Amino acid sequence: MSNLSRIGRRVTRRLPRLSGRQVVALFVVGALCAGAAATALTGYGRVSAALFAALTGVILSALLMLFRRLSRVQRAGVAAQKDLRTTVEEMQRRLVAAVERERLTAGDRHLELAEAIARVKQVTDRKAGAAQLLTLPRELEATVQLFQGFVPRAPMPSSGDYALNPTDLLEVLHLIRTRQPRRVLELGSGTSTVWIAYALEKAGGRLISLDHDAEYARRTRDALEAHGLSGVAEVRDAPLTPVPVEGREYPWYDPEVLSDLTDVDFVLIDGPPAAIGADARYPALYVIEKRLADRATIVFDDAGRKDEQAAMAAWTQRFEGLTREGELLGRHAVLSFVRPAAMAAAHG
Ligand SMILES: C[S@@+](CC[C@H](N)C(=O)[O-])C[C@H]1O[C@@H](n2cnc3c(N)ncnc32)[C@H](O)[C@@H]1O
Repeated sequence: MSNLSRIGRRVTRRLPRLSGRQVVALFVVGALCAGAAATALTGYGRVSAALFAALTGVILSALLMLFRRLSRVQRAGVAAQKDLRTTVEEMQRRLVAAVERERLTAGDRHLELAEAIARVKQVTDRKAGAAQLLTLPRELEATVQLFQGFVPRAPMPSSGDYALNPTDLLEVLHLIRTRQPRRVLELGSGTSTVWIAYALEKAGGRLISLDHDAEYARRTRDALEAHGLSGVAEVRDAPLTPVPVEGREYPWYDPEVLSDLTDVDFVLIDGPPAAIGADARYPALYVIEKRLADRATIVFDDAGRKDEQAAMAAWTQRFEGLTREGELLGRHAVLSFVRPAAMAAAHG
């Protein structure tokens, strides 16, 4: 088979894939070739030369167009490559930033845990009592669980000592998670305020915390601010004032500070401190009862102490609908309150 017929067959096969302009150009070139050849063979040398010149012009124009198209394609390729490089670099930067963030968070949590463990150990070393040593593993376990439940956005103030123990804190947070209170009142602010605010941020409630000491109130407010929790929890200055209860006056938080509160469905009683005098927390139920919702949970810290035991016995006698829930858990007791009218409505 001759080369010519092979080229002819290839062109014929490709013809359907050519654009209209390409087919026209092909026919023009073919016609010019045939014309030039025919005129040369039949003795029309000048016409043949003219046709040949036209053919050269057409071929040159086609080559020019081809070069322009190729350079456009090359420019588009370079631009696409540049875009791809920018995207890859951006992804690399994001990946490095994400890894760095994770590393810092892990570092912070490690530091907080190490500090918390050191604090628990310090307390044990200081008091060095056998009873204290026995509670150490429990407090360590509770500390680990606390930090597993939340990732604090700033260093946590310490627990234990004046503040709630990790085991008590853990139980309080569990009650908040499971009972989902809307309005929480805390008597005595501190570390617990920050932890409760984290729990309420997740569960969707608000916390009002009282402190008789303006300096401690300010410290707790600063801690809430540092953790970005000022929108969830508020610390109110509540100076101690004589509060009459059944014919006797006790120094207690100024009740005026609570005057706007209603429907409180969770209370943590952890103040005033025992150091201010005997029966420091006794007035609590007498003042807050009218601020409670129809159903409320009351957590009473340091419930194993003599004064607190006496207060609980008096309250459960005096306030219908107030009962103890189970045994003492850690240092705190849990009481539940159901307003008698609500109980009556529920039964009939
Ligand atoms: C038992 S503390 C409240 C602790 C808080 N609920 C917590 O768990 O962090 C009661 C009050 O004692 C005061 N207080 C806190 N830490 C104290 C400390 N290290 N020494 C003396 N008083 C303190 C504050 O005024 C606080 O409101």
